[in-house]
Formats: sequence, C-alpha cells, structure tokens
Amino acid sequence: MLLNQIDICRKSFAEYVERKLHSAGSMQDHSFIRENMLLKLHHSMRVCGIAKRISNEEAFSDNEKIISYLCALFHDIGRFDQFMKFKTFLDSKSFNHAEYGYEILVNTDIIEGVDVETRRIIAGSTRLHNRQNIPDETDPYLRRFVNITRDADKIDILELFCNYHSSRAKNKNDALELDLPDTVGFNSEIVELIYAKKTISNSLRKNYNDMKLIHLAWVLDLNYRESFRTIKRRKTLERFSEFLPKEAEITEVISFVHEYVRHKSE
Ligand SMILES: [Fe+2]
Repeated sequence: MLLNQIDICRKSFAEYVERKLHSAGSMQDHSFIRENMLLKLHHSMRVCGIAKRISNEEAFSDNEKIISYLCALFHDIGRFDQFMKFKTFLDSKSFNHAEYGYEILVNTDIIEGVDVETRRIIAGSTRLHNRQNIPDETDPYLRRFVNITRDADKIDILELFCNYHSSRAKNKNDALELDLPDTVGFNSEIVELIYAKKTISNSLRKNYNDMKLIHLAWVLDLNYRESFRTIKRRKTLERFSEFLPKEAEITEVISFVHEYVRHKSE
C-alpha cells in the first residue's frame, strides 16, 4: 500500500470532522459540543502518533505501519455523531460508539480507495477497540492491529486524564467525568481485579475515583513492549498517582502496577 494512502485518509477524516463541526455550529450548547468534538479530533491524531511509534519500535512491515496508522485514525469515528446527538461519551446512555464507527466505515465512502482487506482490518479494529475482552475467534492478523489501536488509545487517554485532573479546578468538563459523583472512597472490588490482572467492567464504576482506578488497570491490559516503555518514559503512573486517594490500599496497588510496567518494559 502506498504511503500517500495516509494523506488521502487524513483528508477524508478531516473533511468528515469538519462537516460534523459545521452541523454542530447551529445547535444549542454548540460550544460544549464543539469543545468535545475537538477533544476527540486531537485525541485521534495523538493516537496515530503513538501507534506510529509502537509499529516502528515493534518492527512492523511498512504496509503494517500504514494499516496501524489508519486504524488509529478512524478508531473513534463514531464519537462525533455520538456527542452531537447525545452530548455524552457514555455508550450506555447513547450507543456503542465502536459499533457505530464500524457501520460508518463499512457503509460510507470514508475509506474508499483503500484495498478491501485493509478496509476489513480498519473496520474490524474500530469495532473491537473498546471491548472489555477481544473475542477468542478474532483472527491473529486483525488482532495485531486491534492490540496496537487499543494500546495507543489507552496511552493517550491516560495522558489526557493526567492533564485533565491537574487543570480540573479551572476547566471542568462534565463530559469527561461520565456523570460519576466525585465522592470519597472507591470500589475495593476494582483493586482486587487489578491484582488478579483481570479486565474490569465499567459497571463497577460508582464514583470518580473508580473511573481513575479503571484507567490505572488499563496499564495491565497493554500488549506491546513499546507501550509499557512509553508509560515508563512519560512517567504516566507517577503523574496519575497524584490524583488517586492517598490510602495504603491504593499506594500498594500502584506499586504493583509499577512493578508490572518495569517488568514488561525489559
Ligand atoms: Fe473509542
């Protein structure tokens, strides 16, 4: 596949987002909608950069590097309509944005010009990127790209929240807090699942601290060595920990995750 495929797809992605921003312009709450659409646009572009680095470091073929980039570019394509229609990023209060994105990719011409097999991978990876667990029957080739998309997505969301938590007092964005109450305490069941290295259902999220703990748990679900190295290099855990409750149970589980990252980065 040609490198200029990336330019073509970036252009059609940008045009798609531009159309959505334009339609949102005449709506009530347009500045709130616009702020959150731009947040997803910038997130998608950063996820491309992270996926690019992982695919380089993990010695993907040139073709696989391009596919990784395109999967990252389109993974959240469903978020724009989601926010415009429902003003939330909560799938449970709107629709599954990954399934919706899959439908856009297979039913519109947004990735027209990309070969059929690559379209299958981009659409499939978009569809599976937010699953708690990837279905066992997923073919290994698709899984390779789902994994890189999921890693890059998680790394950027962790970064986004490190920045958000630190500026939250000045710039609160209710859309990022998913209607969760900012109460004291946390769900110990999440901590137990972190030790068990299990993926965690969002249904266990009862308050804002639980959301942070689930984000912490994502680190255990990374796949590529370069992903762990990125977490280490960015000092993500050190920065993220500042915003978690200062309790022994939490400090200990952070050390556990830290040790896991150290081990997996070697
Ligand atoms: Fe997503």
